[in-house]
Amino acid sequence: MSRTSPWPKTIDSVLLRDPTPADVDAIASFRNLPEVGRWLIVAHESMEDLQDYWPSVTSSDTDFSCIAEVDGQVAGLGYLEINDGTGQPGKPQGTDASIGYIVRPGCQGRGIGSAIASGIVEAAFVDLALRRVTAGCFADNTPSWRILEKAGLKREQHGRRDSWHAELGWIDGYTYSALSEDWLPKRGR
Ligand SMILES: CC(C)(COP(=O)(O)OP(=O)(O)OC[C@H]1O[C@@H](n2cnc3c(N)ncnc32)[C@H](O)[C@@H]1OP(=O)(O)O)[C@@H](O)C(=O)NCCC(=O)NCCS
Repeated sequence: MSRTSPWPKTIDSVLLRDPTPADVDAIASFRNLPEVGRWLIVAHESMEDLQDYWPSVTSSDTDFSCIAEVDGQVAGLGYLEINDGTGQPGKPQGTDASIGYIVRPGCQGRGIGSAIASGIVEAAFVDLALRRVTAGCFADNTPSWRILEKAGLKREQHGRRDSWHAELGWIDGYTYSALSEDWLPKRGR
């Protein structure tokens, strides 16, 4: 597989673009804030992890994660990673992706998360021609699942106390998915 980036893409004034090494300091300034980590499975990432990960994205054939920029500032992160599920021998490769998003505190509540998810799903189905997109969140993370539903994903699992939360213990989780065969015609693509 060779990489063709779906970025840049502008959704509702939010520029989604490839990451550069120069973004790492801005990412580090909000990635580990308590209000960000509270609803993430990976609640904390070290500076070394951030420095290793973000600059490497643009050389990956399977990772199309992006920076969300508003007025020239890093306002959030979008995650788009091709990772196939299980299947019997002969299963096609490189067809499924998982997505995620973070919006910098101070920029939240302005539709940026919705724009990131919408752009990522479009990238997955239109630019990368993938088959299925999935995402998961804690059931209590209402803004997150609202974003997924607005981006056209459907709830396919309500996991009863399937997710461990550092403060809350075992709590419910949701799994969402979208299929290109549903999503593309609904958007006239
Ligand atoms: C989740 C997150 C990405 C939302 O980003 P955002 O830019 O604030 O989202 P939006 O402004 O696009 O709002 C999304 C929806 O959530 C709703 N919403 C926002 N805050 C809410 C709250 N506290 N309670 C209920 N709904 C809320 C908004 O009204 C909107 O729905 P609507 O369009 O139907 O009105 C952001 O809060 C964040 O980064 N959180 C920490 C990391 C995280 O949880 N990531 C997702 C992990 S699964």
